[in-house]
Amino acid sequence: MSRPCIGQEEIEAVASVLRSGWITTGPRCSEFEERFAGLTGARWGVSLTSGTAGMHLLLKALGIGRGDEVITPSMTFASTVNQILLAGAKPVFADVDYDTLLVEPREIARHVTKRTRAVIPVHFAGAPADLDAIGEAAGSIPVIEDAAHAVGTRYKGRHIGSGNPAVFSFHPIKNITTGEGGLVTGSDPELMKRLKLLRFHGIERDAWKRYGKGSDPSYDIIEPGCKYNMTDIQAALGLAQLDKLDAINSRRAEIAKRYLEGLSGIPGLDLPGSPACEHVHSWHLFVVKARGMDRKLFMEGLAERNIGYGLHFPACHTLTCVREACGEVSLPVTEEVAKMILSLPLYPDMEEGQVGRVIAAVKEMFG
Ligand SMILES: Cc1ncc(COP(=O)(O)O)c(C=O)c1O
Repeated sequence: MSRPCIGQEEIEAVASVLRSGWITTGPRCSEFEERFAGLTGARWGVSLTSGTAGMHLLLKALGIGRGDEVITPSMTFASTVNQILLAGAKPVFADVDYDTLLVEPREIARHVTKRTRAVIPVHFAGAPADLDAIGEAAGSIPVIEDAAHAVGTRYKGRHIGSGNPAVFSFHPIKNITTGEGGLVTGSDPELMKRLKLLRFHGIERDAWKRYGKGSDPSYDIIEPGCKYNMTDIQAALGLAQLDKLDAINSRRAEIAKRYLEGLSGIPGLDLPGSPACEHVHSWHLFVVKARGMDRKLFMEGLAERNIGYGLHFPACHTLTCVREACGEVSLPVTEEVAKMILSLPLYPDMEEGQVGRVIAAVKEMFG
């Protein structure tokens, strides 16, 4: 259902780092951070080994732990919920909108208590969550944006990540990839400094600064940190991908448009809805709802026709470890959609004929 969009430029960029003699965190990472922050409008970017690492560090930097509650949707990848649990805090789930699968701001407002320490909306599938309404619901509680799907997503004219701290992912399925990787954008100098410290053992200066000409290789550690630094190999790949972002996302939007047109009006098949606000969708995923057909049969039908698919996502509150930690939770819309959702193939190198084949296969099955 997905394939990274890698060309000669990416291969050359990576090869040039390999030839340079400096392959870990260094100048390519700094360049990638600057360019990515520039894309979003944030003041800084901190590059990391994954989006999950970014969420871990943000929760740590905000001091979230035992007795604290964090509000997030259950219709998301488990990584955020895992990090909340690992921090010793309690995930509190807010239900989503049926059409867009985006978290409902009024559901967030309903779950705020005096123990709520953070709100984490997800820009699901590349559509922006309603940040103004979420900000109102959260009040003075910090909002961290899960922007794993949102490279190229805009909300009311601004790129995601220009306001609250936001966590991006460059896993191979994502709109741009660094193999694996992530980046946190933000504009709060204290918070971003803390993330930089925590991503590399708590050491203030990374290897590039400690081993450069005439530099001082000694260090002190005030607070123990993790080992989450991105490498220059990954950053070089990311820089080459950033050059292609407009082309990548335009092709994704074209494919999504063809799906929306070609699959409209099929009884029993619900297509992704569009957020009401002014926005640019990055079309990370195209998630349909098989309302009129057993999803297992739908998957089997696609597999028989040699068409890939994905499941984004099993509802987090139904996962065993979450149920054990949180008990039974009722989320009517999430539970309803969780049985029906399926992601159709969507990647920039998909050919017109392949898109047509998916449309024809889905029509045939639902017919
Ligand atoms: C919604 C969401 N959040 C977070 C992540 C975690 O990103 P990473 O795989 O870079 O850790 C993903 C990855 O698939 C995701 O889909």
